[in-house]
Amino acid sequence: MKLVIGITRPEKANDVLESLFRAEVRGLSISRVQGHGGELERVETYRGTTVKMELSEKARFEIAVSDEFVDRTIEALCEGARTGEVGDGKIFVVPLEQAVRIRTGETDHGAVTPVGA
Ligand SMILES: Nc1ncnc2c1ncn2[C@@H]1O[C@H](COP(=O)(O)OP(=O)(O)OP(=O)(O)O)[C@@H](O)[C@H]1O
Ligand SMILES: [Mg+2]
Repeated sequence: MKLVIGITRPEKANDVLESLFRAEVRGLSISRVQGHGGELERVETYRGTTVKMELSEKARFEIAVSDEFVDRTIEALCEGARTGEVGDGKIFVVPLEQAVRIRTGETDHGAVTPVGA
């Protein structure tokens, strides 16, 4: 299992949800985060102009999937989130040791595959 973390523009979050749905990826969490992706902000001070690391609002998707779903999850995130401009976001794939569905006690593959899917 893997935890796929996708950081996207918040205004692309609905497009990402749509493409995940089309890819039959179900079960995810979204949060709002602030992030820095290398862009610098110019700040005027009395000494002149300096630069500081710019923070921007991003949507953070967390999607726990079994291994055979990793590629289609990444493809769906890219398809939904890409504009081609800097700041489109990033995807991190992290090994996931355990998952538990609280209601049934199912674990791992049975727990990340949504009921009815
Ligand atoms: N190395 C990183 N570690 C953790 N989060 C990151 C990292 N790089 C980017 N992010 C997150 O992703 C968001 C978007 O990053 P961004 O799209 O600017 O990445 P990038 O690599 O600079 O690509 P681009 O060239 O398209 O701007 C950041 O605001 C931050 O939340
Ligand atoms: Mg960037």
